[in-house]
Amino acid sequence: MNDDLKALIRTIPDFPKPGIQFRDITTLLLSPTGLATTIERMAAAVDGPVDLVAGVEARGFLFAAALAVPLNAGVLLIRKDGKLPGATIAEDYALEYGQDRIAIHADACAPGARVLLVDDLIATGGTARAAVRLLRKAGASVTQAQFVVDLPDLGGADLLRGEGLSVSSLVA
Ligand code: PRP
Ligand code: ADE
Repeated sequence: MNDDLKALIRTIPDFPKPGIQFRDITTLLLSPTGLATTIERMAAAVDGPVDLVAGVEARGFLFAAALAVPLNAGVLLIRKDGKLPGATIAEDYALEYGQDRIAIHADACAPGARVLLVDDLIATGGTARAAVRLLRKAGASVTQAQFVVDLPDLGGADLLRGEGLSVSSLVA
C-alpha cells in the first residue's frame, strides 16, 4: 500500500548532518499525480469533522493547505518562532538534527476547535509533540495527526499515540 508514493520520495544521505538519511518529499511534490493521490489518501484517513488543519513550517504547510480544501477546513500556521506578527505562544523542542522553537498566534483558534495536525514527516516526534502542546494551550481539541512519512525507528508516532492522539501516515 502506498508503494507508488514511496517511490516518489528520495533519500539523500548525510543531509543536513553526517549520518542522517534525509527523506526528501520535493520529488513527490513535483509529481501532479503523486501530490493529488497523497492528498486524496490523507483526506480518506480523516476521522470526523475538522475545523482547522494545523501545518508545521515549512514542508507541513504544503500538505496542510492542500488537505484543508477537500475537508472544508481552515489552515492554522505553526511557524518557526519570530515569524508571526501578532501575539504568540511558543514551545521549544528537539529535532533529529538540532533544536528549534515553534509558535502560533495566541488567538488562532476558538476554544474547542477541532484541529487536525499535519506535517510531511514524523521522526522523533519532537516537533509534533510541541505542536500538540501549543494547540492545546490555545484551547484546541487535537485528537488526530497525519503525516506523509513516518520514520518508525525514531518512535515519534508511538509517543504521540501515548499522548492520546490517533496517528496515521502513508509511508514508513
Ligand atoms: C522536519 C519535518 C518535521 C520535523 C520532524 O522539519 O518537516 O517538521 O522535521 O522531525 P521530528 O519528528 O524529529 O521533530 P524541519 O524542522 O527540518 O523543517 P522544514 O520543514 O522547514 O525543512
Ligand atoms: N525531519 C527529521 N528527520 C528527518 C529526516 N530523516 N528526513 C527528512 N526530514 C526529517
